[in-house]
Amino acid sequence: MRKLFVANWKMNNTRLSTKEYFRDFIPAYSQSSLRPEVEIVFAPAYPLLQTLGELIEDLPQVYLGAQNVHWLTNGAHTGEVSVAMLQELKVSRVIVGHSERRQYYGEHDKAVSLRALAAISAGMECIVCIGETTYFENQNAETESIIRGQLQASLAGLGTEHCSRLVLAYEPVWAIGSGRAATVEIISRIHLLIRTELMKMFGTQGQQVPILYGGSTNSKNIQEIISTPEVNGVLVGNASLNPAEFLQMITK
Ligand code: PGA
Repeated sequence: MRKLFVANWKMNNTRLSTKEYFRDFIPAYSQSSLRPEVEIVFAPAYPLLQTLGELIEDLPQVYLGAQNVHWLTNGAHTGEVSVAMLQELKVSRVIVGHSERRQYYGEHDKAVSLRALAAISAGMECIVCIGETTYFENQNAETESIIRGQLQASLAGLGTEHCSRLVLAYEPVWAIGSGRAATVEIISRIHLLIRTELMKMFGTQGQQVPILYGGSTNSKNIQEIISTPEVNGVLVGNASLNPAEFLQMITK
């Protein structure tokens, strides 16, 4: 199974700071020995896609991602972007349903599933994010039913034929940007639950869907998290904004 390291830059950086970032990242990356199963995705804000895409063009195992995409091809949808617009910029990966979109911008499961279906049908790899908002101490059943519900609703409309381009990301909202990553016990329990649900939905095809963890990952905790069973990669926010830190994470 691949190991994915997805840098979610959120609403950070400019074209200038992107160039500065890669001035540091590229020479160090080129000298590092990367495991063959590692794949790196940079998902910057839309206006940085072209610049970043040009900077990573020659870097092996590195791909360009976007932070969202609309399900329609065009039309009166102010503030949205289409699959074709992204593909024109050589974007091959896209994140949908991130908790910040769900929490602050009213993104709901139905829209998430439409976005995922449109992206995957057009040949993009789609990273669908799910995760509970509240930390439930000893209330495993509550978390599990939230995860099950989000998973089913966010993947509604997807079939076995979409599994090869589907990626799941478990991101407990309480862990995002908090400096408090979920424990490996929680991560392995929820990832196993997600794997079981994926197999119920898609049969053996559900086995090939990578499941990422996201929420306060950094160079200190990556080793433990990435080696947890059923963790096929990480979605990294804050730590991906520092080229040395991010490089340390992917080369560990
Ligand atoms: P964080 O963000 O690494 O800063 O917690 C993760 C995410 O939101 O994808």
